[in-house]
Amino acid sequence: MSEDEFRAAMSRLAGGVVLVTAREDDLEDVGMTATAFMSVSLDPPLVMVSLRNGSRMDDLLTDQPDWAVSVLSESQRHIAGRFAMKGRISDRLLFEDIPYARGEVTDAPLVRGALAVLECRTEQRVPAGDHTLVIGRVLTAGVPSAEGGPLMYFRGRYRTLG
Ligand SMILES: Cc1cc2nc3c(=O)[nH]c(=O)nc-3n(C[C@H](O)[C@H](O)[C@H](O)COP(=O)(O)O)c2cc1C
Repeated sequence: MSEDEFRAAMSRLAGGVVLVTAREDDLEDVGMTATAFMSVSLDPPLVMVSLRNGSRMDDLLTDQPDWAVSVLSESQRHIAGRFAMKGRISDRLLFEDIPYARGEVTDAPLVRGALAVLECRTEQRVPAGDHTLVIGRVLTAGVPSAEGGPLMYFRGRYRTLG
């Protein structure tokens, strides 16, 4: 099987889009767009995100356990696009005009207007090929925005329901 065949097959799996965030030592906020995010366990409450080895978020979460997830709404496509960029210069600029609140426990940015926000603490890191599965215990969870549909990713494009 070729890489293209694998990519094409997986691009048919529609997924919601999240922004994974973390605060680095009181210094800088870091964000990364992800679709490889899922709920894992209810008791204890666990979620998982798959991070590409060597990505800034993977590097950061190797050293510190706290992170957060904002489930993006259909009106937050620009946020997803911005935080999917590689080799960015400074995250500070990326967060500049994005309204967010700080997580109570993790200090990580929680995007205002997101469909849901979760604060997590890493319990386990599982190496998996060129990615690492980061399993986190959910410390807080909320649904700040009752309005709006999800931002989705399907066949290489952002989509909305319907
Ligand atoms: C729709 C979409 C979904 C993505 N999902 C993931 C993901 O689940 N895990 C991941 O590691 N990267 C994912 N990426 C890529 C990262 O967003 C991107 O590589 C990262 O922000 C670049 O960070 P870096 O500069 O540290 O490499 C996704 C990109 C897009 C556009």
